[in-house]
Amino acid sequence: MSVFLGIDIGTSGTKTLAINERGEILAEASQTYPCYFPKPLWSEQDPEDWWQATVATIKSVVKKAKLKAADVKAIGLSGQMHGSVFLDKNGKVVRKALLWNDQRTAAECEEIERRAGGRKKLIEMVANPALTGFTAPKILWLRNQEPRNFDKTKHVLLPKDDIRRRLTGELATDVSDASGMLLLDVAKRTWSKKLLDKLELDPALFATCYESEEVTGKLLPAVAKELGLSTECVVVGGAGDCAANAVGTGVVTGGTLSNSIGTSGVMFVHSDEMQVDPQGRLHTFCHAVHGKWHMMGVTLAAGGSLQWLAENVCQDLAGKALGGKGKNDPYAVLTREAEQIPHGSEGLFFLPYLAGERTPHADPYARGCFIGLTMKHTRGHMARSVLEGVAYSLRDALDIIRGLGVPVKQIRASGGGGKSPLWRQIQADVFGQDVVTINAEQGPGYGVALLAAVGAGAFKSVEEACGATIRVVQKTAYDKKAAKVYDRAFPVYQQLYRSLKADFRAIGELG
Ligand code: XUL
Repeated sequence: MSVFLGIDIGTSGTKTLAINERGEILAEASQTYPCYFPKPLWSEQDPEDWWQATVATIKSVVKKAKLKAADVKAIGLSGQMHGSVFLDKNGKVVRKALLWNDQRTAAECEEIERRAGGRKKLIEMVANPALTGFTAPKILWLRNQEPRNFDKTKHVLLPKDDIRRRLTGELATDVSDASGMLLLDVAKRTWSKKLLDKLELDPALFATCYESEEVTGKLLPAVAKELGLSTECVVVGGAGDCAANAVGTGVVTGGTLSNSIGTSGVMFVHSDEMQVDPQGRLHTFCHAVHGKWHMMGVTLAAGGSLQWLAENVCQDLAGKALGGKGKNDPYAVLTREAEQIPHGSEGLFFLPYLAGERTPHADPYARGCFIGLTMKHTRGHMARSVLEGVAYSLRDALDIIRGLGVPVKQIRASGGGGKSPLWRQIQADVFGQDVVTINAEQGPGYGVALLAAVGAGAFKSVEEACGATIRVVQKTAYDKKAAKVYDRAFPVYQQLYRSLKADFRAIGELG
């Protein structure tokens, strides 16, 4: 029997699954961990938590599926992108990792553009402008703000690649995740020596770059023993969670858009040739499909906005899952209440900028807001306006993609926003386009398990693996009347950010 593991090191937790050669899921396990917010708009995690969750979930999957060591042929790694794991000469973590939704690096983004010779030159080198969430500004922040920690740092790895180091001893990454460091020549799929030079960063800081299905190493003997796996088990390049999710939902050719809501929200399209949004609103990264690229827009707090509402505003509803005393699942209660509210939430808007925003504003100072509250509004209105606000934010990205002439014949919804019938319907109505879901619900973990299967030779290519395993199972048709309501409300949503932009900056200056 040949089994492949997919491990997704997410922001809310790590999820591991095992599949067989036919792509059938044999077992799944997950473990959560905390996120730290030392200041407003900063966010960090402890890489040790990721490792503990990886070990626990692999062991659990091996046990549940009753796997023998020799069964597991290959592992694929996926993870939250852009995070910075700073390691010293002994492989010890120097400080907590700064995450993809951390906004502390505005000054470093300016420094990068200046050193690169301007925004246009930077885009020529690495296909993207400098954004606060990306990794390069985090490295410069460490150099500027914590020089002692910077001096100790010998390697900088992405979250999933630190897990790879602990599994295999190898310092390796894959082109899709490496693209989000802002140090990769995305066109050539190799580190940009030019930019490293301009930023005075030593190339030895960074891992060797592979394509996503390529083998990067084998399990270390002690690790294999602890996990109940074999030293012959290989680990493939894997992918950043966005590209991994695209593979896991079969978005590996043009015409189909992957729309996923996890902590973040992502609108993702494949491209055979590298295509860059001249205004830099979309990211252009390497795809996990060998020699292909993709563009995407990212909402930083998508599922994260609903989680914030559930955990910080409606915590009295919380069941045991959220550490509360209540008997209810807060998400089920909020959804039930939101279902009763008319489209447009009777004039209540939510701007989902709880972690600043990437697409389309690239604004590290933006903040979340409820706007339009009246005596009439209830908790259900607030819940619905959160679901609608996130959908508007994704529509911002969709409109940019459509505006660039990229064909979007089908939208495939996945993650929490794909699973929830209400949120799926709201998205279809806000997008004015039907939304479909597929058989495999596990997104990134499933995608990298398929990449592992390709790397181990079970399929000839990623396209073949997706063709053999992924199919559309359900369509959510958009409602014409609802779409009309949202078409009228959407420009108001867009205007609210423009009206508040300067105020967000002033709020930030209050400290
Ligand atoms: C992508 C991004 C997020 C994280 C979430 O650019 O920042 O989607 O990868 O895990």
